[in-house]
Amino acid sequence: MANKSKFQTIRGTRDLLPPDTALWNRVEQTAHEVFGTFGFGEIRPPIFEATDLFARAVGDETDIVSKEMFILAEQHDDRTVLELSHLRDTLRFMAVSSDHKPSIDFFVEKVGEFSDQYEAARKKGIVYADERAGIKLEYVKDSIGHLESLLKEDRFEGWRDRFDQTVRLCIQYLDLIILEQSNALRPEATASVCRAYIEHNMQQLPQPVKLYYMGAMFRRERPQKGRHRQFYQIGAEILGGPDAPAIDAELIEMLMTFFDKCGLQGAELSINSIGHAADNCRRGYVAKLREELLKVKDKLGADSQRRIETNPLRVLDSKLEHEQAIIATLPRIADHLCDDCKTHYAAVKRDLDLRGVKYRENWRLVRGLDYYMRTTFEITAQGLGSQNAVCGGGRYDGLVELLGGPPTKGIGFAIGEDRLILSLQEGGQALAAQGRDVFIAWMGQNAYATAIRAAKTLRDAGFRVELPATELKFGKALERASKLGSRFALILGDNEIQGGEWTLKNLANAEQQKLTEQALLEYLLKL
Ligand code: HAM
Repeated sequence: MANKSKFQTIRGTRDLLPPDTALWNRVEQTAHEVFGTFGFGEIRPPIFEATDLFARAVGDETDIVSKEMFILAEQHDDRTVLELSHLRDTLRFMAVSSDHKPSIDFFVEKVGEFSDQYEAARKKGIVYADERAGIKLEYVKDSIGHLESLLKEDRFEGWRDRFDQTVRLCIQYLDLIILEQSNALRPEATASVCRAYIEHNMQQLPQPVKLYYMGAMFRRERPQKGRHRQFYQIGAEILGGPDAPAIDAELIEMLMTFFDKCGLQGAELSINSIGHAADNCRRGYVAKLREELLKVKDKLGADSQRRIETNPLRVLDSKLEHEQAIIATLPRIADHLCDDCKTHYAAVKRDLDLRGVKYRENWRLVRGLDYYMRTTFEITAQGLGSQNAVCGGGRYDGLVELLGGPPTKGIGFAIGEDRLILSLQEGGQALAAQGRDVFIAWMGQNAYATAIRAAKTLRDAGFRVELPATELKFGKALERASKLGSRFALILGDNEIQGGEWTLKNLANAEQQKLTEQALLEYLLKL
């Protein structure tokens, strides 16, 4: 029985294999080229960053942050952090082990030690700057102080229970102090690009700064066709400079040019404007929307009912059949945009027309990340089933500032590369397995040295060459050559070495010719 491998890819991840990877490479190469022509440079941020970065940028309440992030286990690799963590373990152990009930003095001493060391480390920036640590420590000290004063009264009975209870509560509070920054695998890269813009003072470069990236992203989603836990994005961001509508339009033009160059069929661009966060704009609209949603609450599903409170805009995303008719009657954001946002949106559409970019307006396009404002867009493609969005993006003018940088305009998109590839393949763009140009059938040790030289010469000239590592019988060699999809077999045996002319067999029509080394190279190069 075959020995089945114990290890397999983890749920939601997969291996990308040849010949598919050739298509991935072609798509990525096209992105490098097209984005380059629009003046974008490549950025490669790390794959994991502070959890807080994503929480702040994408939004605590979004599905991506609240349910789907891969948070990395804490690694105490700093000595101080390690000591603090041990100290806390000791206290915890005292609290749970009935054999090691601490004396109040010992407990007070250890808590004091923890508190002093923590404060010192915090001042030096060694431990994570947990904003609420001070409050937690205060609470612990107060509780112990209170207990100590109670113990001083002789009349106090049942002190043991009270002591145990206090210790347990103190430990719970101490446990809440975050010693080390929590890190997470990136669920998206816009937050990272903004972080990098601030960290490297890119506001001092000529504005706007245009950056693109490609790479793996991670979201703990339920895997299905076109949806993976490790997936790949190709994205671009424009940071700084004005928020001129031409910037939105050119970015979208670049995106559509890229899809066109990839040969993507049936790409449909939808656009919308979700205004900005002000009472006379989106906030006003959201209040109105919530009001209307409350009137029909009973007819909505559980998810939408919850979203009325958390994020009413997301109700518009609903795909539930029975909610569609209800949603169609809801107020539309276009009727509630402030004058500036309305003008901006109209200008974006005019500019897209000028560039010959076709779009459809979709008032329900609100996107699932918190940072968006004004222009939002999405592209769907064929052959993808329910997960048919190949790209999403939009404007996010407040994001850099939210992350601690200067007020900065921003807009960008990310293409789901897995879905793009899938759609290309469904559209018949699957690449054939990469064959070989020349298979070198060498026979005898005399021919081997020549075969090595021939392989090198041909490879240097750019041909795909297969040089078998062991000698093969003639028939076997030809069989292997055709299995590998080779166009030619170069036959090198004693005759060829002695005669100085090599035999080249065209495997498609079985024609054979004898050529000198130089003539062979010229012949192949001419093809
Ligand atoms: P997003 O809409 O979350 O936006 O993702 C962009 C694209 O990534 C989606 O349209 C989809 O094609 C692909 N995608 C998302 N999740 C998965 C998954 N689990 N499996 C396969 N593909 C997936 C963003 O990520 C924003 N950062 C885009 C952006 C950049 N906005 C401004 N700048």
